[in-house]
Amino acid sequence: MDLGLQGKKAVVTGASAGIGKAVTRTLAQEGVDVAICARRKEPLEAAAAEISKATGRKIIPLAADLTKPADAENFVKQAHAALGRIDILVNNAGSAPGGVIEHLTEEEWASALQLKFMGYVRCMKHVLPIMQKQKKGRVVNVIGNDGIKFSYWEIAPGAANAAGQNLTNSLASQYGKDNISFVCVNPGPVRTERWTGLVHAMARDMNLSFEQADKLAPASIPLGRIAESEEVANLVTFLASDLAFFVNGTMIEIDGGQNKPLMDRMRDR
Ligand SMILES: NC(=O)c1ccc[n+]([C@@H]2O[C@H](COP(=O)([O-])OP(=O)(O)OC[C@H]3O[C@@H](n4cnc5c(N)ncnc54)[C@H](OP(=O)(O)O)[C@@H]3O)[C@@H](O)[C@H]2O)c1
Repeated sequence: MDLGLQGKKAVVTGASAGIGKAVTRTLAQEGVDVAICARRKEPLEAAAAEISKATGRKIIPLAADLTKPADAENFVKQAHAALGRIDILVNNAGSAPGGVIEHLTEEEWASALQLKFMGYVRCMKHVLPIMQKQKKGRVVNVIGNDGIKFSYWEIAPGAANAAGQNLTNSLASQYGKDNISFVCVNPGPVRTERWTGLVHAMARDMNLSFEQADKLAPASIPLGRIAESEEVANLVTFLASDLAFFVNGTMIEIDGGQNKPLMDRMRDR
C-alpha cells in the first residue's frame, strides 16, 4: 500500500528514544523529512544521524524541553524554518508518575500535567496557525489507554491522558473548517525506557521483584505480551497519512485488548 507520504514534512516530539524514535524512523522510511526534539542533545543528534543515514531523509534534531513554553515555541519556529512547512504533527513527548493517591505529591500531580498535557497544548498552539495558513494539516497525538481504561495505580497518567484526549477531540470540532484533522493513539504498555522505569516503580510500591512486576502487564493482555515501539509507530504512520485523514476526532487503542482492572486485582494479591 502506498501511503502517499513521500515529500511530506513532519514534527515529532520526544523522538530520541522509544515510540517517538520509532515513529520518526517509520515516517522517514515512507519519504517524510522530520524535525525532532528531546531535552538531551547528544542522544537526539545520534538518533537523527542514525535515521537519516538509514533512510536518506532530512532529520532535524532540535533540543527542547517542552515543559518550558519558550522552548516549545522555539522548537516549532525552528522546525518550520528548516522544513518550510509542517504537514504532520506527532505529539509524543510525555510521562507521568505512576502511584496511588496516598503517595502522589502535589509536585508529581503538577508534573504529570506539565509535559504530558501542557507540552501537547504548547506544540499545537504554535503548529495550528501554520497548518491553517497551509489550509491543511494532520495531528496525531500519542496519548495512552490510561485515559479510558481506569487503574488506581495509574491515576496521574490517567488524568493527563484523559485531558489530552478531551483536548484533541475538542480541537477536531474547531479546526475541521481549516481542513485540519486530529486523532489520538492510545497505547497500552510498550517496551521502552519509560516502561522499564514504570515497572521499577511498580515493584517498589508493591514490594515485588522487578521480574514479578514485569509479569503483571503481559498477564493483563489477552495476547500475553506488551507492544513493541514499532507496532505503535506503524499505526501512527498510517494515521498520519492522507489515507486516514478522515479518521478525525476519535481515538484508536493499541493495547492488545488489555484488561486494566485485572492488573489492579493482580497487584492487590
Ligand atoms: N511506553 C509505554 O508503555 C507507553 C504506554 C502508553 C503511552 N505511552 C506514551 O507514549 C509516549 C512515548 O513514550 P515512550 O515510552 O516512548 O517514552 P521514552 O522511551 O521515555 O522516550 C521519551 C522521549 O521523550 C523525550 N522527553 C522526555 N521529556 C521531555 C521533555 N520535557 N521535553 C522534550 N522531550 C522530552 C525523551 O528524551 P529526553 O529525556 O532527552 O528529553 C525521549 O526522547 C509518551 O507520551 C507516553 O506517555 C507510553
